[in-house]
Amino acid sequence: MAGDAIDTPLGGATGDGSRGRDIALDRGKGNCLICHRVPIEGELFPGDVGPDLSGIGARLTAGQIRLRLVDQSVIAPLTLMPSYYRVDGLRRVGEQFRGKPVLTAQEIEDVVAWLQTLR
Ligand code: HEC
Repeated sequence: MAGDAIDTPLGGATGDGSRGRDIALDRGKGNCLICHRVPIEGELFPGDVGPDLSGIGARLTAGQIRLRLVDQSVIAPLTLMPSYYRVDGLRRVGEQFRGKPVLTAQEIEDVVAWLQTLR
């Protein structure tokens, strides 16, 4: 990690933006819409707990986006956003989920790739 970014893709994976979009919108996976608005037409009923992700690819680098997905609490300790790729130091994690990140390294890279296209 350098500053507020993780510049190296997790596990050396190459992200696929269209898979990333599906993961982000999937209510059983990223479920980003519960907190974020995204620039997609349709009845998505997004929440507004987090900032609108429109234009995020122009505001943040891939590395900055990656860090925010891996563990937003590094930069915003009281954040409501889940740490999508962290397994240490989490409290109240159900037995079956312990030791497993919410998204895999590949899935994180896919979502990073999709967010980079939002400009
Ligand atoms: C439970 C609510 C919640 C969920 C779910 C959530 N986020 Fe967030 N997110 C936030 C909040 C709140 C912030 C604002 C910064 C902070 O307070 O942590 C944020 C910040 C961000 C940022 C930085 C935005 C900026 O302008 O700096 C990105 C990128 C982001 N989220 C992407 C995602 C993606 C992609 C997903 C799904 C994989 C997701 N978030 C899921 C609440 C959430």
